[in-house]
Amino acid sequence: MIPVTTNASKSIADFRCEVIENRLVVPSIHRIRFHQPLLANQVQPGQFINIRVQEGSVPLLRRPFSIHRSNPAAGWFEILFDIRGTGTKILSETLSGQWLSILGPLGNTFQLPSHLKRAIMVAGGIGIAPMLFLAEILRDKAIETECYYGVREASQFCCLDDFKATGVTLKLATEDGRPGFKGYVTQLLQSEFQRQGFVINETILFACGPPAMLRAVQKFARETGIPAQLSLEAMMGCGFGVCVGCAVPVRKENNPEPQYHLVCQQGPIFNAEEVIIPD
Ligand SMILES: Cc1cc2nc3c(=O)[nH]c(=O)nc-3n(C[C@H](O)[C@H](O)[C@H](O)COP(=O)(O)OP(=O)(O)OC[C@H]3O[C@@H](n4cnc5c(N)ncnc54)[C@H](O)[C@@H]3O)c2cc1C
Ligand code: FES
Repeated sequence: MIPVTTNASKSIADFRCEVIENRLVVPSIHRIRFHQPLLANQVQPGQFINIRVQEGSVPLLRRPFSIHRSNPAAGWFEILFDIRGTGTKILSETLSGQWLSILGPLGNTFQLPSHLKRAIMVAGGIGIAPMLFLAEILRDKAIETECYYGVREASQFCCLDDFKATGVTLKLATEDGRPGFKGYVTQLLQSEFQRQGFVINETILFACGPPAMLRAVQKFARETGIPAQLSLEAMMGCGFGVCVGCAVPVRKENNPEPQYHLVCQQGPIFNAEEVIIPD
């Protein structure tokens, strides 16, 4: 098992960030690029930020988003998000030149052990968001990477060209099989495992998506012995360990009693062997 770290001791700040691009990538999914060189330089794959989507008290709480990609040399980073409710609707209407208050960097990071030769990313829907940043780091380390990416229908696929540019091998799944595998992305993973096999002690799974998909990846990891790091979501109040609103149960080795860990500090990345995934 690769120990995942916690962000409890690292410095978090409230940054003023300028929106320099807001693009509708596919229906209902936007990508916003923020200019903020300090934050772009600090963020790591798997981490997230907490955004005040507009000035004033509506909505009251900030909204958390994974870092989609970062370019420290150019001083920007991006988020990729699905419009779900009030906060994401407001965010989708943000204009270039607007400034937003962003808390970060938050949470822990995906861990890449030194013996890693092959990475398998599994993403469901908007769970693709943190994977591009990870794919770019894996490319820089010359680690062979496959990305299993599932959506309901073809029109929901996004960023495929960006992934191809990293050299990642894309394996697509849709409900009707047009394009790619017909069925769930985790069924595709299972069938590829049976077809090509993975060298267990040189491979790691990185997954982000809805709870049912994460549970299927967790089951696959247990059955095959391939370590897996899962990126979880939780409803968040503060984003930095004060409100305890984001606790999830974690069962540590040799201790049958679960302990509660905070997704915002000890996550969002958890070892599949330990975390109990909430609905
Ligand atoms: C660590 C972390 C990283 C995230 N990264 C991304 C990302 O990269 N891209 C992205 O599109 N979304 C991401 N999310 C989810 C995102 O934060 C929510 O979609 C957003 O807060 C919804 O805000 P809203 O005001 O639009 O919706 P609301 O009006 O608050 O809610 C609309 C619906 O979405 C559900 N919802 C709200 N927040 C969450 C949440 N945190 N988890 C699950 N369901 C929620 C509500 O139950 C409700 O059904 C992330 C969440 C976390 C915790
Ligand atoms: S969101 Fe407040 S403790 Fe995690």
